[in-house]
Amino acid sequence: MSDAFITNGRIMDPANNIDEVGALFIANGRIAWVNGSGKPPEPQTADVYNAAGLVVAPGLIDMHVHLREPGFEHKETIATGTAAAAVGGFTSVACMANTLPVIDTPEKIEQIYDIANETAETSVFPFGSITKNLVGDELTDMRGMYSAGAVGFSDDGVTVMNSALMRDALTLSAELGFPIMVHCEEHNLNAGAVMNLGETSRKLGLIGSPNAAEDIIVARDIMLAEMTGGHLHVLHVSTAGAVELIRQGKHRGVHVTAEACPHHWVLTDKEVEKQGTNARMHPPLRTQSDIDAIIEGLRDGTIDAIATDHAPHTPQEKAQGMLDAPNGITGLETCVPLVFTYLVRPGHLTVSEAIAKMTSIPANILGIDRGTLSVGAAGDVTVIDTDLVNQVDVTKSRSKSQNTPFAGWELNGWQTFTLREGNRIGVRPRSR
Ligand code: DOR
Repeated sequence: MSDAFITNGRIMDPANNIDEVGALFIANGRIAWVNGSGKPPEPQTADVYNAAGLVVAPGLIDMHVHLREPGFEHKETIATGTAAAAVGGFTSVACMANTLPVIDTPEKIEQIYDIANETAETSVFPFGSITKNLVGDELTDMRGMYSAGAVGFSDDGVTVMNSALMRDALTLSAELGFPIMVHCEEHNLNAGAVMNLGETSRKLGLIGSPNAAEDIIVARDIMLAEMTGGHLHVLHVSTAGAVELIRQGKHRGVHVTAEACPHHWVLTDKEVEKQGTNARMHPPLRTQSDIDAIIEGLRDGTIDAIATDHAPHTPQEKAQGMLDAPNGITGLETCVPLVFTYLVRPGHLTVSEAIAKMTSIPANILGIDRGTLSVGAAGDVTVIDTDLVNQVDVTKSRSKSQNTPFAGWELNGWQTFTLREGNRIGVRPRSR
């Protein structure tokens, strides 16, 4: 924990409606003074950063990452995944339970915290699984895992197809207040699918998954949330139909929140033809009309948060071809410039709205005390140059895996430095 003084920046704290040029002081790892609040500090030993012309935001939160430890350390570890997060401007990440073993007991939640305390560059908040071993036939001890620090529950990667189990999970959510984070694909409809069902899948002769696979489960889970009063969070929304169902659910007062990932609002399924397995993920890339609907959903608040679904896989695994390669792409180091290039620059979101979707909003959904620059909050700060133009350079990545479709892309608006509890994190290595 350190002291830090950031001067001349555009301080942007959506949770407190702050957007003004000024200074920010972190003492002993916590926000001690923000422009104009009380007596100005006299920093003597603090690190001083000049943020003139830069946005000074609360440390970003990625509410959906796969850190792969334990069990898949050849793809990523808590150390390397959080190093990549820090490079990408994130100070907190929430990690999924589809590890080996699956995170499905209170002891395993504690183990994630223990490893993170030893090795992580950012704060780490684990999810527990909804069903034991992700098999979908028996609920986990969610009450126990919640007491051990789980911030929500998810079988991400697979859908809980048993509606009665989902009802029971959402009933417990209504009692205890945690979110149930749902992966929405009807697995009978997407059986064997490696991409979206449409013109491109037909052209390539690949099995495609229809939008209906997602829409059916989103509709079901919104009904179950309505019935039980539980908090449903829809992960990685990819279809126009899902956006509309979530919008209608919100209008009816259902406790439903949602996130969208950059690849789902930047790329269409045509990318599969160009990028092969680096454009293979679940749910799959869809069409321009789905992208338009997701952007409208982000704009009107139907989609609350932006998350990456950072899903590292090795080059050998991704080289297996479209039929056999695993699903997913990395995302932590490219999220901020994709947000600025594709959402802020074209005017879909203001800077403040974009920051809120990566700070205070995910913090509220997860119930964690992060995502603001309030005095007394953790001294987590992300500084962004909204005009900086840079290329995505995978040779500088700190993730163990580089399975991104954005390699070499020129993007506009990048994180420039990041502090966690007042300490600089996410320093990139020189090019290999
Ligand atoms: O593409 C994906 N990859 N989607 C998921 O939901 C899971 C993830 C993974 O674990 O690789």
